[in-house]
Amino acid sequence: MSEEIKPGVLVGCGNPLLDISATVDEHFLQKYGLKPNDAILAEEKHMPLYKDLVEKYNADYIAGGSVQNSLRVCQWILQKPNTAIFFGCIGQDKYGEILDERARSNGVDVHYQRTNEAPTGTCGVLITGTHRSLCANLAAANHFTIDHLLTPDKQKLIDNAEFFYISGFFLTVSPPSIQHIAQHAHKHKRTFLMNLSAPFLSQFFTEPLMAALPYVDILFGNELEAEAFAAAQGWEEKDMKEIGKKMLALPKQNADRTRIVVLTQGHLPVLLIQEHTIEEFPVERLEPDEIVDTNGAGDAFVGGFLAQYIQKKSLGVCIRSGIWAARQIIKRSGCTFEGTPDFNE
Ligand code: AP5
Ligand code: NA
Repeated sequence: MSEEIKPGVLVGCGNPLLDISATVDEHFLQKYGLKPNDAILAEEKHMPLYKDLVEKYNADYIAGGSVQNSLRVCQWILQKPNTAIFFGCIGQDKYGEILDERARSNGVDVHYQRTNEAPTGTCGVLITGTHRSLCANLAAANHFTIDHLLTPDKQKLIDNAEFFYISGFFLTVSPPSIQHIAQHAHKHKRTFLMNLSAPFLSQFFTEPLMAALPYVDILFGNELEAEAFAAAQGWEEKDMKEIGKKMLALPKQNADRTRIVVLTQGHLPVLLIQEHTIEEFPVERLEPDEIVDTNGAGDAFVGGFLAQYIQKKSLGVCIRSGIWAARQIIKRSGCTFEGTPDFNE
């Protein structure tokens, strides 16, 4: 990579989760009242699901957690360890150790908060064909507190960073931490990027989401998330481009830099929506037999995007890198990769 990349230039906050992933049948989804392509938080009735996956479906354990996935993919593409820093909360247990080891070996500089009050969070990934249903039991991840960010050593890391990425999923955990990072980015003219992450966040966490949005320079989402956002806002629009334009027009703190909206639509083109233009970037569709699982596709897209964006590459290159990265991850189980990346601008 040509341009010098500063260590710690990218900071992410999110829920570090260990994915418990298995291919299941319709009946299993019905048993737990899950939709084939959704992402939800586990309720009491879902708790036996994890044991079921392990005992009856021969599940795999894969490092997950949306932001951590994106940062791992970003690091893989950059091949320059410790460019990205991650904050999130894990328990004092074996799963936490696995996550720590996986993230570090992928080059992410993790600074976890650790709690004794709950075990490390897990996410059931229930695969049926090309769909995946996510059921997250946040556990320790839910114990993240802003105090972790306010210690002098963490504040130094934050001061040193230029780009901040937080998923919508983190809205259920620590809105004060999101505000802290968002306001810091605004005050110091740094870039703040966010993801809508799942439909339920726009529906049920509207208040902290709308409080964060004025600070968001780049907003990511997929089509279901964009639809849910539009519905929650009471917008009539159904067309992705029209929804994207309205997202662009929502209030923004830093008015000298207009917002950018990036919407993915599975195998359909990625939309780059800016103040005066809407561009479409084609996706070369993977055949069903090439798809192992789409778990991590959206996260990998963001990871690919970030790897170029922090090098100040054009938005076109960022998006092509995102599409390329998603493609690699879809061909494998979970958000995993191997070998040397061969993305060509
Ligand atoms: P999550 O972000 O939920 O979704 P994903 O599985 O990464 O992505 P999807 O398959 O939903 O893709 P997408 O719909 O976002 O994007 P699109 O289909 O447009 O991430 C999963 C992780 O979330 C898990 O590891 C889990 O731990 C974590 N998680 C769950 N709950 C959590 C919580 N509460 N807190 C924190 N973490 C949580 O696709 C994107 C791109 O992929 C496209 O633009 C395209 O380039 C490519 N692509 C997609 N389909 C095709 C195709 N058929 N052919 C070629 N390319 C394709
Ligand atoms: Na995958």
